[in-house]
Order: sequence, then C-alpha cells, then structure tokens
Amino acid sequence: MTAVELAGITKRFPGVVANHDIHLTVHKGTVHALVGENGAGKSTLMKILYGMQKPDEGTIAIDGEQVAFSSPADAIVRGIGMVHQHFMLADNLTVLENVVLGSEKLYGIGARARRKINEISERYGLGVRPDVLVEELGVAARQRVEILKVLYRGARTLILDEPTAVLVPQEVDALFDNLRGLKAEGLSVIFISHKLGEVLSVADEITVIRRGTTVGTAVPAETTPRQLAELMVGSELPTPQTAESTVTDRPVLTVDTLRLAAPGGKALLDDISFTIHAGEVLGIAGVEGNGQTELVDALIGLRHADSGTIRFLDADITALPTRKRREQGIGYIPEDRHRHGLLLEAPLWENRILGHVTEKPNSKGVWLDLKGAQDDARRIVETYDVRTPGIDVTAASLSGGNQQKLIVGREMSHKPRFLIAAHPTRGVDVGAQAAIWDHIREARREGLAVLLISADLDELIGLSDTLRVIYDGRLVADADPGTITPEELGSAMTGAATGHLEHGETDDETAVTAATAVTADETAVTAATAVTDDETAVTAATDESAESAETDKTPEIRKSPGSPEAPESPEAPEDEAR
Ligand SMILES: Nc1ncnc2c1ncn2[C@@H]1O[C@H](COP(=O)(O)OP(=O)(O)OP(=O)(O)O)[C@@H](O)[C@H]1O
Ligand SMILES: [Mg+2]
Repeated sequence: MTAVELAGITKRFPGVVANHDIHLTVHKGTVHALVGENGAGKSTLMKILYGMQKPDEGTIAIDGEQVAFSSPADAIVRGIGMVHQHFMLADNLTVLENVVLGSEKLYGIGARARRKINEISERYGLGVRPDVLVEELGVAARQRVEILKVLYRGARTLILDEPTAVLVPQEVDALFDNLRGLKAEGLSVIFISHKLGEVLSVADEITVIRRGTTVGTAVPAETTPRQLAELMVGSELPTPQTAESTVTDRPVLTVDTLRLAAPGGKALLDDISFTIHAGEVLGIAGVEGNGQTELVDALIGLRHADSGTIRFLDADITALPTRKRREQGIGYIPEDRHRHGLLLEAPLWENRILGHVTEKPNSKGVWLDLKGAQDDARRIVETYDVRTPGIDVTAASLSGGNQQKLIVGREMSHKPRFLIAAHPTRGVDVGAQAAIWDHIREARREGLAVLLISADLDELIGLSDTLRVIYDGRLVADADPGTITPEELGSAMTGAATGHLEHGETDDETAVTAATAVTADETAVTAATAVTDDETAVTAATDESAESAETDKTPEIRKSPGSPEAPESPEAPEDEAR
C-alpha cells in the first residue's frame, strides 16, 4: 500500500532549481530514507509534501488520492507530520503549550491534553514531561517533543529531517526503536540522514537525490555505505582518523575547578579542570545534556562561572565578555547554528561579519569594511564549497549543511588559537565532512587547540588526541582515542565508567569479547564486527578508503605532515585579506 507518492516534483528558487522532476514512493508501514548531499533538495521536497511550499510542477498523492496543499494545516489533516531539520519550538513556553499550540481543538489545553501527551510519551517511550519549559531542554529532548507534537496531531506519515544529527548512539538506538514501533502500527516514516550506516540499518527503502533530482533507489540489504555514498556524492567515504600527533607542551587553554550552578543551586558544571595544548584536540564525550552546553557557554563567555578560572594563553579570561574572547583568538562553532551561529534573515556576507565585527577583514580602524567582508564571504563560499547562488542571499535560504559550512569557514578564517567546536560537521554530507576534518587537522598542525564536542563518536575518536567523558556536569573518565572503540565510549558515556578507560576492560561484555580477538591495527574493524554488522560495513569501507580520503578529497589544502612551515601558499590569500 502506498502512503505517499510524489511525481515529477519541480521547485525553483531565484538562481536555483531546488527540485527537478523528483519521484518518491513511500509505502505504508515502512521507513523510507531520503539521502543526498548538502543542497540536494531533500528539505525542500519535504516542505512541499508538508504544504509549506508549493511545487512549480508535479503531483502529490496521499493514500492513492491526489491532493493539493496550500498550508501545513492541509497536510496535517491528511496525516502528514514533519519534524524539521532545525527545531521550531517556542523556548519560553512549556512542552504542553508547545504541543497544543495551534491544535487546541483536539484535546483542549488542560488536563485532557496533558493526559494525551503522557499517553503518547509512554506508548513510544519518548520521556516527554509536559510541564517543563522548552528552553530548559537539550536538543535530544526537544526533538522528542517535536515528534510527540506531530503524533499528537494524528500523523500517519512522519517526516524526520535529520533527526539523528543531534543524537548520541544510545539515543539513536532509542529513536530507531520508536520508529519500529510506529511502523508496526502501520505508520510510515520518511527519514533524512547523512549517516549512511544508520540509513542502511533503519530504512526499508532508500531514495537518493543529487543536485535536485532523483538519481536512484537502493535496497538496504543489498547496498553498502560506500555504494550509497557514491550514489549520493560520487565519492568515497571519508575517515576522521588523525594520522600523526601534533600535540605540544604549550598550554593554550587551562580550565581550573570550574563550577557553574543553575538558579536553584544545582551544579551544572562541577570541578571541571583540563588543559588543552597547542596542536591538541580534546574531545568531550557525553550524552547530550550532561553539561556540554554549559561548558561551551562558559568558555565563550555566554555564561559566567560561579567559581574557578579559565586561562587562555597567558591571561585570565574568566571575567572577559564574549567579544573580547573572540578578538583574542577564540573561535566558536556553536551547537545550535540558528540560535548562536547565524542571522537567518541577513545575507551571507553580513553573516560573515557576525561575531567578528571588530576584526579584519570586516573592519578597518573603527569602521566596518563592507567590501572586505563581502570579498571574504566570497572566498569562504569558494573555499568551503558553500552551495549558493551568491553572497547576497539570506542565510535562511541555504540548506542546513551549507549553513554549517559557512559557519565553519567564518570561524576558521580568523585563525583562532583556540577553537570551540560543538558538532562541527552536524548535518554536512560525507564529502563536506571530510573537507571540514581536513581544515581542522591542518589548523591543528599549526598549533590550534580544539575543544571538540560531537555526538558522532567516530568523529570524536578519530579527531581527538585526548578524550574525556562528561557526566552530570563532571569530567568522570578519560580514554585513549587510539584504542577505545565507539561502543566502549558509548557505554562509558551513560555514566557506567570512571577513571581511565582501558580498551577492552569496560563493563560492556560485548566490547570485552570483541577486544580479545583483535590485533593492533585492526582494532576498530574487528571490534565493530563483533558488535553490529551494520557498523562493520561502515568501518571497513572507511578504512579501505582512508588513503584516498586523505589524499584526494581536498588536495589544495593538504600539507605534508611534519613540515608546518613548508607550504605557505594556501594561507596567502587569507593573510592578505586580514
Ligand atoms: N527559501 C529558499 N530560498 C532560496 N533558495 C532556497 C530556499 N530553500 C532552499 N533553497 C535552495 O534550494 C536548494 C536545496 O536546498 P535544501 O534545503 O532542500 O537542501 P537539502 O538537501 O535539505 O540539504 P542539507 O543536507 O544541507 O540539509 C539549495 O541550493 C538551497 O540553497
Ligand atoms: Mg536539509
């Protein structure tokens, strides 16, 4: 039975054909994955199905019946629900208020609504509490509220636009369990993701779009991540592995017994101490909501610690405001690109200035240098492959992954000495991810210190020189990224482990067994084999393509390891621009 059929969908924006003759058939009781590179047109297609945008051409059929939506309200009536790539909840309202907003007629706004919310929450294990303020929730909890909101409206087909980008592995598993529950009840899910291993494990069918058009469908059981990646971007899977250590003994950032408490007095961060040296990437592993956001806020100066100190190079910056910290060389890739990274309604070149108003090339003396900023915005668009018709379009009109590339480009362009990177490749496709990893690695070779927070444990392990686990506001454990597996790290993140995590000696039975069978350089592959089959394919493919990913992806920015001063040329234009 067909739940949704999109045929010949075309959608044009000024300067861009976002969708061109797209075909998509979603069957009832299935998870249908929609994959494709950044800017391929996935979100646009889904906004069309959800009635947010009108197609220029093409037809939509729901349950075999042709429909024309002029607003999401029409789509909701036909059982279509969408959880957006970027969440759309009102921060200052409670969960209940957010859920009932616009649907007051369904179950009222009081006891009946609360009962319904609790019922849905329990049925699908969403763990949603109706009376908390949304602003108090982390991204994973917000997402569950969004899903609940859609179910509350009676959706039979759920569109989830990159739902796992913000989740750690355990949360992904929980979400996938939820999706299976939905399927079992005959609901359909359209699932968008750049994580191909996930796609292959959860999807029943896959449609691939590239440059706005359908390029193929794939059957998960018969497809490898590599084949899927090739269909998507026409290139191989990258690896985040850092080849050689560049860690020095020069401290760049030293945090000493930092403490930050919530208004009620509960410690959100407690006794946080660490040092990051020049050339070192310190990875923080943790289930979202364990203090990562507060730590980042404290480091960039959005919140001030109650006690403890932060030293940057030779200065105590504990009391400095955000702008001063940035001017002194702290870069910031925020966790939530819409709240802290971009002015959505402003053009790209203005977004180039954001957060760096007083710095070159955006300013000359006390004046803004608009031309400087515009030229440099063009350079960033070029260097970071931001897919856009120009620098005058608004940030809102960029696809999610392209917004992310713009932010990374902006922050890296100021040559930070210390970079706070919260999920730096969230929502970017496999090709762009490799490019961003290369940019970070290259800066690291030149002495950049990085605090890396990522829900992508392969990225976290692959890029980090040092790993710490954060749990309930404290750094509870550390691990060696050279030997730890994602599974071991994942179980440590739930609070099971403290102290130094030895590879193969965690509580996790599976990991232990897996570890016993490994030889030195095959650790990752073998360990993964024993854990899940899906992971294996990803890891194996990644390893095989490690060579080519390192050498082929972005040859123009690649430098020979160990000779930091040799190839100056890639930096030259940037120095001029400064
Ligand atoms: N409102 C808009 N105005 C102008 N251009 C738009 C608008 N929405 C999308 N586009 C353009 O349409 C193209 C497709 O964007 P879309 O957001 O659908 O991509 P996507 O496949 O979801 O990418 P990502 O993986 O990065 O989220 C992009 O080139 C984007 O810049
Ligand atoms: Mg998108």
